[in-house]
Amino acid sequence: MTDDHTFDGSSAASGLSQTGRGERLGMTDDTTFRESLAASDQRWPAGFLWGSATAAAQIEGAAHEDGKEDSIWDAFARVPGAIAGGDTPERAVDHYHRMPQDVALMAELGLQSYRFSTSWARIKPGDRDVNRAGLDFYSGLVDELLGSGILPWLTLYHWDLPQALEERGGWANRDTAYRFRDYAVAVYDALGDRVSHWTTFNEPLCSSLIAYAAGEHAPGRREPRAALAALHHQHLAHGLAAAAIRDLAAEHVGRAEELRLGITLNLTNAVPNDPADAADLDAARRIDGLWNRMYLDPILEGTYPADVLEDLHEYRFEELVHDGDLAAIRQPIDFVGVNHYHDDNVSGHPLPHDSVPAPVPTDRPKSSPFVGSEFVTFPSRSLPTTAMGWEVNPNGLRDLLVRLTAEYPALPPLYITENGAAYDDVVDDDGRIRDLEREAYIVAHLEAVREAIADGADVRGYFVWSLLDNFEWAWGYAKRFGIVHVDYDTLQRTVKDSGRAYARIIASAAADATDAVGVPTGSAAARA
Ligand code: FCB
Repeated sequence: MTDDHTFDGSSAASGLSQTGRGERLGMTDDTTFRESLAASDQRWPAGFLWGSATAAAQIEGAAHEDGKEDSIWDAFARVPGAIAGGDTPERAVDHYHRMPQDVALMAELGLQSYRFSTSWARIKPGDRDVNRAGLDFYSGLVDELLGSGILPWLTLYHWDLPQALEERGGWANRDTAYRFRDYAVAVYDALGDRVSHWTTFNEPLCSSLIAYAAGEHAPGRREPRAALAALHHQHLAHGLAAAAIRDLAAEHVGRAEELRLGITLNLTNAVPNDPADAADLDAARRIDGLWNRMYLDPILEGTYPADVLEDLHEYRFEELVHDGDLAAIRQPIDFVGVNHYHDDNVSGHPLPHDSVPAPVPTDRPKSSPFVGSEFVTFPSRSLPTTAMGWEVNPNGLRDLLVRLTAEYPALPPLYITENGAAYDDVVDDDGRIRDLEREAYIVAHLEAVREAIADGADVRGYFVWSLLDNFEWAWGYAKRFGIVHVDYDTLQRTVKDSGRAYARIIASAAADATDAVGVPTGSAAARA
């Protein structure tokens, strides 16, 4: 890992005067960072997909309308002290009722794809039959997107298990994997005629270890073995749903060829704090195992990493894995979605006494999510941080993408399915949100993606997190990630400066693609 990239925006600012593209697109003074991207020699690969992402529980609201029942997040929000400010997803940003206007906003920004999730508790709550009204909402969304020329990119699970299933053990219960397959089939039956891009899970690390071991996310359990069971059962659910969707697609003329099926993982570089220290090296190996390899290895290679199973010895992880499970999990997939916000500096030693504790959303007691490696610490590297306290290190994203490419021969094409930053935005007197730090964050990470592509990583798209400010899980509405500001009293949407910059980046990349003569080297088409 290299650490030679400092984040002060100065390198990004160079090259401002070198390009005529700014004038061509009618850009004025505040285009510094975007210009630096345009000024670089390398074009984006042909067909590179530009989008933005959200998740059902974070934006929809209408938590108990049209047949939707509680998800674990609705129930968790009722636990005193579980969510900062006592916030709930009940209304969120009311996307459920404002969907057409929100899609119009996406079109205005020039988004080519929109990554959203469907709510299981809206579609197939508990044991009930499929709730048509729930499916109708997503059907309307898909039509609205297609009508605006925006590719729907659907995620089946972004952390909102129906509470009725949690009451039967949740993801610690193996049966939930089979219920997930039923739900996936119901959604595919309704939308498979129009949606080609399907993601089974978003960040299973969070919906297993952080939800069932750390207790920070719903359902808020602190049970290490249940967390490991959740992890394995979510993998099984991924495999069962992926196989079912592919089988269904094969029954319809033309669909199998169009189908793009994958999973989104949050992946990190576990950087040893002192690469010459054996305890730090071992800590980094453990975190790389629990954070990356416990997901990539079974999904891509049909194995669990032996060293991690050894670390988990006392939990008898192997007993959770039935005959045939690994074959069921290792399904052919067409892409891996990479969510990345920061990488991680890891140590096997206690933190120094004077270190500043990482910000936490609530005082509720929590445990380490890193089952079997609870002693590992994350010393600060004195890098700039976002409002989440997350380190800003764009080079880490480049390193990660290049490393994945080198380490996994079976790696399918990659998409950055989430990247973005929370900052404490200020609405100026003129109503504008001049969120330069977020803009700089996005541009620096895009540059890192482009460097990774130049170094051989097959990255085919980028989705900024998030379209809208929203319900940031245990942080409630306290942290804003949107490129569009939401006034939580009036629910009015205002495009932030970062959103305007992102729109210009997309427009510029699209203009480049149109200008390009022939197929640029390294393009998706050339590599296919
Ligand atoms: C990711 C989640 C997403 C959002 C961002 C900030 O881990 O997938 O829903 O909360 O973090």
